[in-house]
Amino acid sequence: MNFHTRKWVKPEDLNPNGTLFGGSLLRWIDEEAAIYAIVQLGNQRVVTKYISEINFVSASRQGDIIELGITATEFGRTSITLTCEVRNKITRKSILTVEKMVFVNLGEDGLPAPHGRTEIKYVKDQFKDDEAVSE
Ligand SMILES: CC(C)(COP(=O)(O)OP(=O)(O)OC[C@H]1O[C@@H](n2cnc3c(N)ncnc32)[C@H](O)[C@@H]1OP(=O)(O)O)[C@@H](O)C(=O)NCCC(=O)NCCS
Repeated sequence: MNFHTRKWVKPEDLNPNGTLFGGSLLRWIDEEAAIYAIVQLGNQRVVTKYISEINFVSASRQGDIIELGITATEFGRTSITLTCEVRNKITRKSILTVEKMVFVNLGEDGLPAPHGRTEIKYVKDQFKDDEAVSE
């Protein structure tokens, strides 16, 4: 699982208990997962269909640096299934897990459309023929 995005927990992200507000975290995860699905499916028209049980494993506090990890576990005909983990960047302690997030690929008519993808596409493979970005 790649942990692409880091967040710094700030005062505006806290609940009255002084720890990270679940709603803020869910917003970050949904956005991160949507971006992942868009990149994997090569289509901006992707919507969240289903989110499984969410486990808030441990609290995060102001000043913590956390990181969001997403990976695809299944490619369907019109859907993609992802799994997600959020952890503390420094201690690696798990903060949240979501076993299953399903996104649906839509056509221009707004209806589910086949995406034709069957496996994870890595950035290094997407650009491997491009001299300008190859190392
Ligand atoms: C997304 C939407 C167009 C799908 O419509 P639908 O009638 O359920 O479509 P389908 O039955 O053809 O299912 C589409 C895919 O989703 C999957 N799916 C549907 N319901 C599911 C569920 N409860 N759990 C997991 N996957 C599900 C299907 O298996 C199918 O995947 P596949 O083609 O890879 O096999 C419709 O439900 C919708 O508009 N929902 C609202 C989306 C939204 O507003 N999200 C929040 C903002 S982004």
